[in-house]
Amino acid sequence: MDIVEAIRSRKSIRGYKPDPVPKEVLREILDVATRAPSSVNSQPWEITIIAGQVLKNIKQGNIEKLLSRAPASPDQGSNRLEGKYRQRQVDLAIQLFQLMGITREDKEKRAEWSQRGLRFFDAPAAFILSIDKSLKGWGAFDLGSLAQTICLTALKYSLGTCIQSQGIIYPEVIRKFTDIPESKQMVICISIGYPDWDFPANKAESAREPLENVVTWCDDD
Ligand SMILES: Cc1cc2nc3c(=O)[nH]c(=O)nc-3n(C[C@H](O)[C@H](O)[C@H](O)COP(=O)(O)O)c2cc1C
Repeated sequence: MDIVEAIRSRKSIRGYKPDPVPKEVLREILDVATRAPSSVNSQPWEITIIAGQVLKNIKQGNIEKLLSRAPASPDQGSNRLEGKYRQRQVDLAIQLFQLMGITREDKEKRAEWSQRGLRFFDAPAAFILSIDKSLKGWGAFDLGSLAQTICLTALKYSLGTCIQSQGIIYPEVIRKFTDIPESKQMVICISIGYPDWDFPANKAESAREPLENVVTWCDDD
């Protein structure tokens, strides 16, 4: 697949087939994707792959926390946005909810949607990207570069991905089943699996601002 086609066709996948992803494929994806650039080649990423029973345990642990109304970890950042940023978030949510047939009033379906995120959208595997807490500076940026490279590489294997903050909002659950120590901060996770193209949310087309709104040319010519 041509690189531009890959970038343009990548999208967040929120519904997967149950088929497992072979370990060798996950390994190959990471072998390629860790060619991603990082500040001073520090390669601060630590990658944990969760699948099988471990993933099942984490999904169950996440849902139990959610149902007990446990607060999300403050480490996972706030998504309280304002102005145009909030509007873009709302636009995406409206599109996803329309596709999924979830109305504003339907508390049950809205709750089920939140749970899907905590269940890694029922993907058969996920990557958790962490950094050592002692690292200052560009760590999160470097993990972003790795995350996008993973998502693009996955396309070569007909795999879909969703970069997610939701899956790790209860880091204590993840630590319990993976032994990721307290000295590591989980920054983001990525669900991965074979897309279920019949799943309505996978038909979402997220918008992008026209370039005129985000690019400033400083050029005398
Ligand atoms: C840092 C980050 C966190 C994200 N967290 C979530 C999440 O928790 N749940 C979710 O459904 N999508 C999540 N996404 C996916 C974004 O919603 C998605 O990338 C954006 O809407 C653009 O859509 P696209 O990926 O289909 O192009 C996240 C993406 C990023 C980069």
